Amino acid sequence: MNKRIALIGGSSAGIGRAIANGLLEKGLNVIITGRSARLESTKLELQAKFPSSSVYAFATDYSSSEDISRLIASIEAAGLFPDVLVLNSGGPRPGTFDDISIEDWDAAFQQQFKSSIMLMKAFLPGMKKKQWGRIINISSSIAIEPTPGMILSASYRAMLVNALKSTSLLVAKDGITINTLCPGAVMTDRLTSLFQQQADTAGKSLEEIIKNVAATIPAQRIASPEDFAHMAVFLAAEEANYITGTVIPVDGGLVKKSF
Ligand SMILES: NC(=O)c1ccc[n+]([C@@H]2O[C@H](COP(=O)([O-])OP(=O)(O)OC[C@H]3O[C@@H](n4cnc5c(N)ncnc54)[C@H](OP(=O)(O)O)[C@@H]3O)[C@@H](O)[C@H]2O)c1
Repeated sequence: MNKRIALIGGSSAGIGRAIANGLLEKGLNVIITGRSARLESTKLELQAKFPSSSVYAFATDYSSSEDISRLIASIEAAGLFPDVLVLNSGGPRPGTFDDISIEDWDAAFQQQFKSSIMLMKAFLPGMKKKQWGRIINISSSIAIEPTPGMILSASYRAMLVNALKSTSLLVAKDGITINTLCPGAVMTDRLTSLFQQQADTAGKSLEEIIKNVAATIPAQRIASPEDFAHMAVFLAAEEANYITGTVIPVDGGLVKKSF
């Protein structure tokens, strides 16, 4: 049987990279994406670690619809039709209603929402043909519990969740599952730099900020990217074939909701 192929957005670092690593451990081939030079170094590191799988890399900025179209065309030209699609488009600009301009709203629409719809338009038909597919959306606890300072994230992530729920109902009969995972705090470069900004503003050390944030999480710690990636890897597996249309927090108990 051919190896399954996973396309993982924003996977040169952070959560996306940990998911790519986890899927390679399960024997899949992966397509990784990112904007910067670290994409190539990540490709080389992962390929060296998993020599019996293939690691493909396509430089893509998810805030550009031209880039997404180019990514789709390159994948199709290479004959790499993804069985697993991990929607992970990089975080939007933080800010409150007052801070965010109409132009910011337009830009975030492409990155946070339209990029995912474009990828699904391109690759869902192939999954239907194979009667097998997995779509895993990397969202945020902010989609469930909005905060004033992340209005773009709160808005477009909730919109995407409902678009995915709606689609999951349509394609469940085709062996395709679609689920959303919501991280709370995962120790990636992005989070470290956000914490560093907070530390600088508050005149505190980075360690102090990390300790304060960890104290607000019932698990009393910030997740590693690998802690988070386990659930994505599970949802991509055969065993997860009856789980669809869900929104699953992977957040150490941060979001306080029962259902
Ligand atoms: N870490 C957390 O605690 C946390 C919490 C809640 C939600 N989230 C969300 O989970 C997702 C992944 O988070 P993360 O912490 O791993 O960090 P991230 O820093 O937002 O993204 C890491 C990866 O995405 C790529 N990337 C960033 N912006 C991109 C863009 N416009 N187009 C294409 N690739 C892009 C980065 O590579 P390049 O920089 O090279 O492009 C890198 O490979 C994000 O949507 C984030 O907002 C994270």
